[in-house]
Amino acid sequence: MESVRGQRVARVDAPTLSRQLAGYPHTLIDIGTGDGRFVRHVAAAWPGYFAIGVDSCAANLRERSRQTPPNALYLVASAHALPPELARCATHLTINFPWGSLLAGLLDGDSAVLAQLTAVAGPGALLEVRLNGGALAEAGWALAPGMAQVQHGLARAGFVLRAPVSLGADALRACPTTWAHRLAFGRDPRALYLRGTAPAGPRVVAARPDGARAPPGGRGSRPPLDSAGVVRHGLTQWTGPPRSVTGFRGRPGTVGQV
Ligand SMILES: C[S@@+](CC[C@H](N)C(=O)[O-])C[C@H]1O[C@@H](n2cnc3c(N)ncnc32)[C@H](O)[C@@H]1O
Repeated sequence: MESVRGQRVARVDAPTLSRQLAGYPHTLIDIGTGDGRFVRHVAAAWPGYFAIGVDSCAANLRERSRQTPPNALYLVASAHALPPELARCATHLTINFPWGSLLAGLLDGDSAVLAQLTAVAGPGALLEVRLNGGALAEAGWALAPGMAQVQHGLARAGFVLRAPVSLGADALRACPTTWAHRLAFGRDPRALYLRGTAPAGPRVVAARPDGARAPPGGRGSRPPLDSAGVVRHGLTQWTGPPRSVTGFRGRPGTVGQV
């Protein structure tokens, strides 16, 4: 598979990837990562994550990938044909504000995109999808029916999903992606957030090169879930009730309105 770091493009093979992932309890794969800002944020805020941004457009990745943190990687690949080296790697999958063929793939229940998502998702992986009204309108869908269509496809692909939550301008401003900010300050700041999990199964924890396991818990671990399954202090910061979403800045309790 092809990785990008500024102007440099390099091949990454499976053993190299596996060495890079070793010792990280969590692997994020952000599909349609755009300029990679979300990946950079996750890598910086959550040292227990190895964050991988994938986009079909290498030019989008160039600027931010010039200073890729050690626990991040930017790959050029289409969501329709993700690198086989990523199979079952993700403990956390994100698709933030897709457009074009990525959104079309999510809307098309038989699409290769759904098969690729299930292929890269590890057992029980957390899935988060954020859709915006403008992109759906361009694809010929209103916001709620478009989200319902995406939900339908993901559910058929085996993901277990919660009800979507609407994101307003404040929640978008708190979301560390470039597109979220564009939307937040644009004319149509309507978006929906969907969260779910891949089917459960035996968990694979990458071993460190020294054979030890990474310690559970701590700042670097996956954000904890409370009894209601709500992610706290973490990447989704979704507090469950449909009217509030906490911020994305790695600080607990930053509440934004939706
Ligand atoms: C609106 S941008 C969102 C970027 C980023 N997630 C954000 O929130 O700022 C959508 C991105 O999806 C990428 N994309 C579209 N179709 C894709 C596909 N089939 N495979 C991978 N990426 C795709 C585009 O290149 C673009 O960077």
